[in-house]
Amino acid sequence: MLLSPAGVDALRTALTRAGFTANGFADRLGPQATGAVARNDFRAALRATEDRDPLATLIRVYICDQTEPEPAVAAALAPLTVEEALAGGLVERHGDGLRAGVDLEPYGDDWFVLADVPASARPGRPLHAEHVLGIGGATQTLIGATVRRPVETALDLGTGSGVQALHLSTHARRVTATDVSERALRFAATTAALNGQDWELLRGDLVAPVAGRRFDLVVSNPPFVVGPGTTTHVYRDSGRVGDAIGAELAAAAPHLLTEGGTMQYLANWVHVTGEDWAERVTGWFAGTGLDAWVIQREVADPMAYVNLWVTDVGETADPQRMAAWLDWFDAHKVEAVGFGIVSLRRAGHDEPVVRVEDLRQRVEPPLGDRVGEWFDRQDWLRARDTDGLLAARYRAADGLQLRQEATMGADGWAVDRQVLAMPHGLRWSEEIDPLVLALVGGADGRLPLRDQLALLAAAHDVAPDELAEAAGPIVAHLVERGLVEPVAD
Ligand SMILES: C[S@@+](CC[C@H](N)C(=O)[O-])C[C@H]1O[C@@H](n2cnc3c(N)ncnc32)[C@H](O)[C@@H]1O
Repeated sequence: MLLSPAGVDALRTALTRAGFTANGFADRLGPQATGAVARNDFRAALRATEDRDPLATLIRVYICDQTEPEPAVAAALAPLTVEEALAGGLVERHGDGLRAGVDLEPYGDDWFVLADVPASARPGRPLHAEHVLGIGGATQTLIGATVRRPVETALDLGTGSGVQALHLSTHARRVTATDVSERALRFAATTAALNGQDWELLRGDLVAPVAGRRFDLVVSNPPFVVGPGTTTHVYRDSGRVGDAIGAELAAAAPHLLTEGGTMQYLANWVHVTGEDWAERVTGWFAGTGLDAWVIQREVADPMAYVNLWVTDVGETADPQRMAAWLDWFDAHKVEAVGFGIVSLRRAGHDEPVVRVEDLRQRVEPPLGDRVGEWFDRQDWLRARDTDGLLAARYRAADGLQLRQEATMGADGWAVDRQVLAMPHGLRWSEEIDPLVLALVGGADGRLPLRDQLALLAAAHDVAPDELAEAAGPIVAHLVERGLVEPVAD
């Protein structure tokens, strides 16, 4: 830990006594200043904290990144002493005062998360090779995407600050967290202790520290950045070449999961000229026996990608490093890099479902609920053959919309495209033909699909059996996406 157990207690006492929680500081600053802080505009926050009482000082030091007089910082951290805080790296001397040595973030209702000060806050200072990442965009993506159902055991691979483990502790009875970095584990242990949590913390490379063990839920925000395999910063670089870490985690998953267990991780994958990216990623799951749902949320071209990750570590574009990275992309015909979320489930079936698809639209949060529902729908579908699908009754999803594009011609409007759109949930939109539109339009939950199709067949003069055969996969697809929902018997 960064502090002794007594030091952690003293820090917790100081923080809670001052009211330095997410709600405490929002109450102190008010909604406008709190909103401004989130946009890195500290003017109102600085004005509201001129009193230098303990809460004001903690806000100035840890939120507004100010250097404050030592007596004020000592009063804010007491009963933790300044010497203990300096020794643990919580504060550092700067000019004639003290400033933040770590990122100490009030988080959630009453949590604290410890990480390193971000590169942007210390321009010119090289980032530690074992920099411990704060709560950034990728971190929040995984937090939001995690299926939060009660489980016995959960594992966070590459825990860093411990923030994923903190969330896991709300719905897992036992939490294990690993990291290859001893330094990261010290931060995670401090985050755990500061929040009164007791996690099993293990050091080692990826799954090595938990070899032979199984968990109900595994999450990982690994160092997924794609490149030649060079490691300069452990939070970003896995040392694996290309997108191999995504494939490695997929291969490890069947050995990590209990029956029915779920694993979710963030990944990058390369788009190679002449190769279908989705096929490439689908290949990661061959032979795993796992259900897999991979959603691609973003795609970046190599230049934007390299720029992003070079800036992330605060390097002002090292031309040699950038050139080597871009050369590697060129040599491997990488034309883009995809970013997304991999969700796997050990359902114990002979024919697992593997779906790798673009899902770029904004979804209704939390995505984790949507992922849980997606696997539920796969269970429902798997339990039914074509006869079972035809025997079920369906209704269109609540609020389902139809959007039409039409062109005015001599005989009036001619419909060019009809699109079904879900205004909530995963917000899918799909172009459909008139027959499917009629099917969905008539899905009011009263008739079994077979009877509905018989009526449609008569109305459109098609053979009922042919229609039923064609409709099976279409209805399965609509159910998978949640555009139509089975009605319980
Ligand atoms: C992107 S950070 C994620 C930190 C945190 N879990 C989060 O979501 O913000 C990746 C973490 O994985 C750790 N890591 C890097 N390589 C690893 C490896 N080979 N095995 C285990 N952990 C690793 C890093 O030290 C770092 O803490």
